[in-house]
Amino acid sequence: MGMTIRLNIRALVYILVIAMVLLMLDLLFMMSLGRHKATIVKSSSHTRGNIGGGVKIGGTVAVPINRPLDHSGSGATKPAAKQHQTWAQAARKPKLSPIVQKAVDMSTALASPNVTCIPERSRNRMLNVYGEKFNLSIPPFLNMDFEREPHILDLPFPFGVQDSTKLVKETLGIAWNTSLPFISKSKSCLRCVIVGNGGLIKDTSLGKVIDNFDVVLRINDAPTKGYEKDVGSKTTMRMCYPESAFTKPEQFHGNWLLLLMVFKPMDLTWLQTVAQGKKMTNQKGFWKKIASSVPKKPEDFRILNPSILRETGFDIIGFPVSADGKVGKNVPTSGCLGIMLALRFCDEVAIAGFGYDTSIPNAPLHYYDKLKMKEIKRSWTHSVDKEQKMLFDLVDQGVIQDLTGGLIRT
Ligand SMILES: *[C@@H]1O[C@H](CO)[C@@H](O)[C@H](O)[C@H]1NC(C)=O
Ligand SMILES: *[C@@H]1O[C@H](CO)[C@@H](O)[C@H](O)[C@H]1NC(C)=O
Ligand SMILES: *[C@@H]1O[C@H](CO)[C@@H](O)[C@H](O)[C@H]1NC(C)=O
Repeated sequence: MGMTIRLNIRALVYILVIAMVLLMLDLLFMMSLGRHKATIVKSSSHTRGNIGGGVKIGGTVAVPINRPLDHSGSGATKPAAKQHQTWAQAARKPKLSPIVQKAVDMSTALASPNVTCIPERSRNRMLNVYGEKFNLSIPPFLNMDFEREPHILDLPFPFGVQDSTKLVKETLGIAWNTSLPFISKSKSCLRCVIVGNGGLIKDTSLGKVIDNFDVVLRINDAPTKGYEKDVGSKTTMRMCYPESAFTKPEQFHGNWLLLLMVFKPMDLTWLQTVAQGKKMTNQKGFWKKIASSVPKKPEDFRILNPSILRETGFDIIGFPVSADGKVGKNVPTSGCLGIMLALRFCDEVAIAGFGYDTSIPNAPLHYYDKLKMKEIKRSWTHSVDKEQKMLFDLVDQGVIQDLTGGLIRT
C-alpha cells in the first residue's frame, strides 16, 4: 500500500517535470517564431513567385499575416491585395462638397438624348440683365472688316488692335475663315458648355453630361485624355494664347478649332507661322516655352475679336478706366471670355469647373494637377474678385447654368 503511494508520487513528479520541459520547449519555439516574423515578411517581399507566401520554419509552414500590400509576393494573393487597395482608396476619396453635389445631381438629367433646349434663352436673359452694354453685333472673330468697328483702334492688344493693323491684315490673309462649322442647319437650338479647369469638376462624373452638349468649349491646355469620366472627351473649340496652349504637337490632334486670344503682336506672328505649317523657332518675347508647331490647317484657327475683350472688361465686368482713358492691367480670364463668346451663338450656355470651393483650402486648384487652392489665394487680385462677382450674377440671373456649383451663391 505505502509502496504504491510512493511510486505514484514519483510518477507524478516525473510527469510534472516532463510537462514543464515540454511547455518550455513550446515557449522557446513560439519565441523563435516571433523573432522570425519580421524576416518572413521581408524575405517574402523579395521572393516574387513564392506561391502562397509561406515560409518554412522548424518543420511548420508559417504564413505571415501582416504582409505589406504593395509587396504581394505571389499571383495568388494579388487580387485580394488589389481589392483591399481600392477599398482604401474609396475610403480616402473626399466626398463632393454639398453645393457641388447638389449642382451635379441637378445636371445629370442633361445627359439624356431628349434634353430640352429653349431657343435664345441665355442670350435673352443676358440682354435683360445688361441691356445695351451687351452688343450682339460685335463679331465673335476678327475679320477683314475689323477697322469699321468702333473703338477697335483706340486701344492696343488685348482690348484693340492699335498700331497693329498691318499685322492683323497679314495674319487674316492666312487665317481668314470665320465660320462656325458646328452650327448645323438641322440643329435649330444650340446647347453649349464651357469647361473650366477648376478642381471642383474632379470626381463629378459629368463626362457624359458634357459630351451631350452640341458645342464644348475648352480652355488653355486643360486636358481631356485621362479625365474623360469627369470632363468628357468632346472638344469643339479651345481658347488659348501661345503660352497657355498645349506644347506638344500631338496634343493638337482632333477636329477642333483653335481660338487665339491676342495679348501682344508676337501672338499673331506665332499664329501666322504655325498656321502655315512652319516652325516657330524664335521663342523670344514669350514668357514661357510655347509650341513651335501646331498640326492644324489654316481654316482651323480663329482669332477672338479684341472688341469682345474690351466689352467684357469695361462694359460688363466694369474694370476701372481713368479719366484720361488709361486702362489698368486687368484682363478678363479665359473662362469669362468663353462665356461672353458663347452667349453670341449659343441658345443655352452652361459652365462646368468654374469657381473655387473656398471652404476647402486643400482642394485641388485644377482637375489635372497637384496645385492646391490655397496656393492661388496669395495671388488673388481685386480684378478677379470683380469678375467673379459678375459671373455669380450671371448664374443668379439664370443667364448661364453652373453644372458644378462653384458660382452658385450660398
Ligand atoms: C426620348 O424620346 C423618344 C421619342 O419621344 C422616346 O421614345 C425615348 O424613350 C426618350 N428617351 C429618353 C431617354 O427619355
Ligand atoms: C455694336 O457693335 C457694332 C459692331 O461692332 C457697332 O457697329 C455698333 O455701333 C455697336 N453698337 C453700340 C450701341 O455700341
Ligand atoms: C472654314 O473652316 C471650316 C472648318 O473649320 C471648313 O469646314 C469650311 O469649309 C471653311 N470654309 C471655307 C470657305 O473654306
